[in-house]
Amino acid sequence: MMRVPNTVRGMRDLLPDDLAKRRRVEAVVQELFRLYGYREIGTPVLESYSLLSAKAGEEIRHRMYVFKDLGGRQVALRPEMTASVARLVAGKLRSEAKPLRLGYFADCYRYDNPQMGRYREFRQAGFELFGSSRPEADAEILLVACDLLRRLGLKFSVKVGHVGILRGILNAEDVAEKEQNVVLGLLDKRRLSAALKTLKALRVSEECLDIVKALQRIRGSESEHVLRRGERLIASNEAALTALRNLDTVLRLFSESGMNGPVLVDLGFARGLDYYTGMIFELYAQDLDIALGGGGRYDRLVECFGGEATPAVGCSPGIDRIVLAMERQGLFPEKLGLGTGKAIVVPVGEEQIGLGLRVASALRCSGVAVTSDVALHGLAEALGTASKAGIPIAVIVGPKEAKEGAVTLRNLASKTQSYVPLNEVVSAVQRLL
Ligand code: HAM
Repeated sequence: MMRVPNTVRGMRDLLPDDLAKRRRVEAVVQELFRLYGYREIGTPVLESYSLLSAKAGEEIRHRMYVFKDLGGRQVALRPEMTASVARLVAGKLRSEAKPLRLGYFADCYRYDNPQMGRYREFRQAGFELFGSSRPEADAEILLVACDLLRRLGLKFSVKVGHVGILRGILNAEDVAEKEQNVVLGLLDKRRLSAALKTLKALRVSEECLDIVKALQRIRGSESEHVLRRGERLIASNEAALTALRNLDTVLRLFSESGMNGPVLVDLGFARGLDYYTGMIFELYAQDLDIALGGGGRYDRLVECFGGEATPAVGCSPGIDRIVLAMERQGLFPEKLGLGTGKAIVVPVGEEQIGLGLRVASALRCSGVAVTSDVALHGLAEALGTASKAGIPIAVIVGPKEAKEGAVTLRNLASKTQSYVPLNEVVSAVQRLL
């Protein structure tokens, strides 16, 4: 016999329970789109390689699925959404009033090493806010990201930093942007020695190396204390100080908003994407070492795609990892109970099938979720299967019922039943639910 083919490595099938969990998370994201005023958009899975790779960062660029289509175009599966959304704002949405708030759900693709919480096809949600360089825009993005995890019941923390600090230090040493990106990419992967080695090769000063090293150790949950330590360290660099003060304001606004997720301020923190220009952050569940989401400010991306200079800040919660964290923290009910329906209509014989379908339709018209028995294996088996699936009510249509214009309603839990005229089926079922 032929072996059942497997999915391609790193790709997953999603079974009904997996999808029910995903939809639960997405329903809360959708509610936040509404509450915070983000309008949903969609963009193609396939984009030109040049768009997706422009500011993706070496690590992600390296892991993109890239190929030539039959027309000879160099294309790629999107590894994230921010580039595509910025393309829209540079082009089709150019004349929309700002601030402009856009939201999305997107399947994304990265040729990552498959392991727990790391897949080659994964789902992101996203909130992108265009047209404000003010710190309250950064605070809003932090707020909405934390609001999502809080509404889902997760215990979490948020790590916050600012790329302007490290960039300010490196700019003062005339390190070109491209090389800065390499260093920040290494720091993102916690490869401090490799980052220092790269900087040494660029002949930066000893003082610069010391500051980069020291910044890696300035972190903690007492933000005031962390920021004051940072201020002393970078006192002679005006650009880095401006970045630090901006971070201070964002954190103060976040805290004044009343959203109290535990915050870890980390002045040496970097993220793997090259487009960040300001505050950056990542979300972590208490017992999981992989980020549930990340984001930050990217003020030059729209411009980079030919649009007007448009400041922007955003975040992408990773749906799969949020589901994983919720499973770990026991936040899903044992039985998700989706898709099985509230009632089953069981025709007893061939002659009652048509009437059964009509009764099922009438129930659906009144909003009751109903399945029809399509096996005709006999009443006992149909009721047994329905009971196991957790369906509470069976609507039985036998020859006697069909002749008399009635049905038998059976409560599958209490095993009690009643005989109900056809025109009262809907209200009788609704009373039982
Ligand atoms: P990112 O940190 O690369 O940021 O990805 C955001 C989230 O996507 C991660 O925190 C993680 O939850 C999820 N994710 C990433 N890779 C994988 C994977 N291989 N398997 C499962 N989940 C994964 C961005 O993509 C930026 N676009 C965020 C952003 C939006 N910045 C500004 N606006």
